[in-house]
Amino acid sequence: MIENKLNAPIENILVVDDTLDNLLKGQGYKVRPARNGSQALLAARSTPPDLILLDIKMPEMDGYEVCQQLKADTQTRDIPVIFLSALDELLAKMNAFSVGGVDYITKPFQETEILARVQTHLSLRNLQKRLQEKNDRLEQEVSERKRAEEALCHANAELQTALGHLKATQAQLIESEKMAALGELVACVAHEINTPIGIGVMAASTLAIKTHTAAEAYENKQLKGSALKTYFESATYGNSLILKNLNRANELVKSFKQVAVDQTYLEKRSFLVTQYIEDILASLSPQLKKTPHQITVNGDKNIEIDSYPGAFSQIITNLVINSLTHAYQKGEEGNLRFDLSQESGRLILEYKDDGCGIPAENLNKIFEPFFTTGRTKGGTGLGLHIVYNLVTQKLQGTICAKSVVGVGTTFIINLPFKISE
Ligand SMILES: Nc1ncnc2c1ncn2[C@@H]1O[C@H](COP(=O)(O)OP(=O)(O)OP(=O)(O)O)[C@@H](O)[C@H]1O
Ligand SMILES: [Mg+2]
Repeated sequence: MIENKLNAPIENILVVDDTLDNLLKGQGYKVRPARNGSQALLAARSTPPDLILLDIKMPEMDGYEVCQQLKADTQTRDIPVIFLSALDELLAKMNAFSVGGVDYITKPFQETEILARVQTHLSLRNLQKRLQEKNDRLEQEVSERKRAEEALCHANAELQTALGHLKATQAQLIESEKMAALGELVACVAHEINTPIGIGVMAASTLAIKTHTAAEAYENKQLKGSALKTYFESATYGNSLILKNLNRANELVKSFKQVAVDQTYLEKRSFLVTQYIEDILASLSPQLKKTPHQITVNGDKNIEIDSYPGAFSQIITNLVINSLTHAYQKGEEGNLRFDLSQESGRLILEYKDDGCGIPAENLNKIFEPFFTTGRTKGGTGLGLHIVYNLVTQKLQGTICAKSVVGVGTTFIINLPFKISE
């Protein structure tokens, strides 16, 4: 189809009847004449027209046969064919329709009738073409969508596999992290216990040598009073050294046990949080009374959680004792406060002191086992590690610390209201 200046298509009509040429040209159609059946077939195949007007009676090949051949060819089978004939018989018309004609016009022609039918069939043909185009587009879209869906399915499957690998790697990583942490813990435990045990062994063996020497002197009746006195002094000192170091080792073992978060002695129940914190603080009053610090507990008194009070108490005690031990100089007056609130169905417990704070380089180590700046004061560096384990494992929560040197330290603990079994 060619386009005219107004972009309206000029329909191309193949006419196998010379009487109609001028009539159609006058109506603005592009008319291609064919003188007989073979010419008509050739012209239709080389440039398919929009419509064919076909005479029935022709020498060599009649209109029916031409139409049959057109309909048998995929290139031309959709072109509408209007038969023209002087035969006004029913049989002729039936033949025309049975070989694929869309219409039948009897000669002599009425010009208006011809034009009306040509227009009708051209419009029908155009509609059909548009429908076909839409159909094709739709089919293309459907197949593109199918392809996209397949690609998506494929990508999804790949993602699933990748996720599986990732999960496996992650599990492996967690396992090896755990093993590394355990190895580190065991090494630290060995190192920590080694010192008091080593001192104890040394004191005991010195005492054994001294006892042996004194016993020998006694057997030989050579033990003087002054030597006996020296021996008693050494024995007393050695004994106290052994006792002190065995006690230290004993304490260390107790702390290590706590790190493992003993599951049995901590019992689960519902309790009012502010009241419970007040009770814990009351139990700490012997230590607190020795200081000028102020402690306040703020928050809704009715907040209740179903959790492990034993673990909760250990956490609060560790945090407060840490403030007393590390945050203030002797005689300095501090403000310690607990603030309770609720957020997204969880309990937020904020504990704050306004002491010396923790330098940034230490802040990310405070939850590690054995990190302490108070070793000379007997600190093991296990307090906050125990707190971390209790919060994250036993109480199914999270804990983080914020601190500014010279301003103070804050611990934020986020806990569920009910522990899931
Ligand atoms: N409130 C605080 N203010 C300043 N420093 C703190 C505070 N709490 C903890 N720290 C720092 O964190 C370190 C680790 O604390 P953690 O409780 O684990 O060990 P520790 O108190 O030194 O020893 P332990 O608790 O085993 O007796 C402390 O040594 C201290 O340097
Ligand atoms: Mg501590």
